[in-house]
Amino acid sequence: MKIQSLRGMPDFFPDDLRQWHMLETILSQAFNAFNIQEIRTPLLESTELFNRSVGNSSDIVNKELYSFLDRNQKSISLRPEGSASVIRAIIQKKQEHEKHKLWYQGPMFRYERPQKGRFRQFHQAGVEYLGYEEGLAEYEVISLVIQINEWLGISNYTLKINHLGDEEAKENFCEALKIFFKPHRAELHEKDISRLNSNPLRVLDSKEESTQFLLKNAPRFEDFISVRSKLLLQDMAEHFSDKCDIQIDSTLVRGLDYYTGLVFEVVSDALGAQDAFLGGGRYDHLSGELGGKNMHAIGFAIGLERITELMENKESNPRIKVALIIVDEQDHQKTYRIAHDLREANIEITLDAFLTNSSLKSQLRRANNSQCNFAIIIGSQERESDQFIWKDLSEQGEQRTLGFKELVTLYKNL
Ligand code: HAM
Repeated sequence: MKIQSLRGMPDFFPDDLRQWHMLETILSQAFNAFNIQEIRTPLLESTELFNRSVGNSSDIVNKELYSFLDRNQKSISLRPEGSASVIRAIIQKKQEHEKHKLWYQGPMFRYERPQKGRFRQFHQAGVEYLGYEEGLAEYEVISLVIQINEWLGISNYTLKINHLGDEEAKENFCEALKIFFKPHRAELHEKDISRLNSNPLRVLDSKEESTQFLLKNAPRFEDFISVRSKLLLQDMAEHFSDKCDIQIDSTLVRGLDYYTGLVFEVVSDALGAQDAFLGGGRYDHLSGELGGKNMHAIGFAIGLERITELMENKESNPRIKVALIIVDEQDHQKTYRIAHDLREANIEITLDAFLTNSSLKSQLRRANNSQCNFAIIIGSQERESDQFIWKDLSEQGEQRTLGFKELVTLYKNL
């Protein structure tokens, strides 16, 4: 029986990856422009880390974590997201008192039901600003989100923002929700009853029609959050209104338990049901809850599979491909010396045709088939006179015989 890849864990072939490389280049330009440094953390962590951060009441921990026992019977999990690991790493290095601006990128794992735009192994690029209190950091992080979209040519999107208030507001609101739903428990789906018990805010996220109907008359979060939080939301909505479609959405609570202040999500109609391609927010309590010193934190993560769907230029600029074709060569060391010299001179050559060990004609055919634009040909005559044939492989392409320096200049001026 043939072995297949696991459900929801696709392979990426060179054709798929061309666009990813363009995405990665633009993301790293944006991170550089904002002076954000890279951090890499392991794919596997103690299960406890995610229980205590993403939260026991979240779907991510409840049903979607890839957890198993290692050989020492310790429960470990594949990371479902990146923020918890970043905070764990900073606490472990005892750097909570410093300021950090960090980015990361890589695969994340969630045992979700696969569908368009939803995978079990997917990729995120995330950013975390640590040590910056509420205020300016919110504006900076949202500016970065807008900058990334602009540089990727994405304009068809809505940025939804909400504020989860301070701890007191959150507690009061949760209490009010519990009281409101008490006489309606019989009308609620089992899932929502359990949400009411563990994290009532998640009820606002419910997909159940009956719950959404009841919510129309339920207490509203905006009546509980402080004036300061409301003003922040309004000011941000105004500040960014000329840059993008920004909306205050008081039902936005996000699926992870650690958020405390501003939360945001970027959605696009063009994506279908899984329309959020970026999500984030402030989570000032996580460091303390994980046993570290208190540390302000705000960040976001981009779903790379989803954002590549939206990128305007599906293809990066095709690179100039040059085939190095060597005929009748017995001295392999010399061949590789020539290849090395050309690469040192920044001429990107491919030896694929030469590797077939065939005639000039068949090497040229191969170069053409693999979309090379030019060929550098070295036969016995050129070898003796230290010269190269430069051949344009397009239909009416010309060919010239050149010395090394001329060749380098010609390539540079292409
Ligand atoms: P999240 O909203 O769970 O946030 O994930 C961020 C993004 O990852 C989503 O908007 C979506 O584009 C993508 N994503 C999530 N699950 C899947 C999936 N199964 N398949 C494909 N794409 C998916 C977080 O993970 C937070 N750690 C973000 C954050 C960073 N908050 C503060 N700092």
